[in-house]
Amino acid sequence: MKVVAGRASPMLAKRIAEKLHCELAKTTYKVFPDGELYVRVEGIEDEVVVVQSINSNDDLVQLMLILDAVSNANVTAVIPYMGYARQDRAFNEGEAVSIRAVARLIESYADRVITVNIHSEKAKSYFKKLVEVDAMPVIGEYYKEKDVVMISPDLGSYDRVKVASSYAGCDFDYLEKRRISAEEVEIKPKSLNVKGRDVVIVDDIISTGGTIVEATKVLKSLGAKSVECACVHAVLAGDALNKLYLAGIKCVIATDTVEKPVSVISVADAIAKVLKS
Ligand code: R5P
Repeated sequence: MKVVAGRASPMLAKRIAEKLHCELAKTTYKVFPDGELYVRVEGIEDEVVVVQSINSNDDLVQLMLILDAVSNANVTAVIPYMGYARQDRAFNEGEAVSIRAVARLIESYADRVITVNIHSEKAKSYFKKLVEVDAMPVIGEYYKEKDVVMISPDLGSYDRVKVASSYAGCDFDYLEKRRISAEEVEIKPKSLNVKGRDVVIVDDIISTGGTIVEATKVLKSLGAKSVECACVHAVLAGDALNKLYLAGIKCVIATDTVEKPVSVISVADAIAKVLKS
């Protein structure tokens, strides 16, 4: 078996290869003067694992070219961060269902697909060969024996935070939005008191950082001693990281599904377990 590291996921691909005791395939990636991508993969074997997150349009095109280059083999596409999953339905008439298009493309090449915490069940439903890995246990383990309380910024991430907190062995809650009047909305933890507590906001994706910044304001106004945040996919678009620090976030940590300086937790082990199964 050979592991092919796409340009978006070199660190995670190396970690997965180590867990599987196999080698990385030799790859050549180039960009032509007109912006078109070029891919070459050498020395592939019968079984190939391609590791490439989709965090940009170039990542997606490169993934397709890699899958084409290895198409004679039995291919597992590991897509740690499945971009385009937030457009999982036509919100307005005539819109593309982006993740459906991406799913069709990937599955026209891959024999099996593995991803980590895809955005929604709806997004997942467009795949026929997909196995989803949950990063919440590794995020929970990271906070084990630390005296923190975990907060989901909304009800949508509640189930995820519940899993992380069970591994951390800490309290958890979610921020509830309650309309008080036509002009007033109150946002606060559903039942926990965060006054004087060290809080970790846990979410699946941090993109612009807007969700975490708003949650931080609320938690600080309620007297939280400190606020940090943990996410699976550190998309961190534009100056999101700076925005988070300016909002008073003590620390940002993430997994290596999107490789950023804050990616201090690895999902390699969880992915390798699925690959071995
Ligand atoms: C929403 O469904 C997700 O769980 C995240 O809360 C959201 O994608 C974060 O986006 P942003 O960082 O742009 O607020």
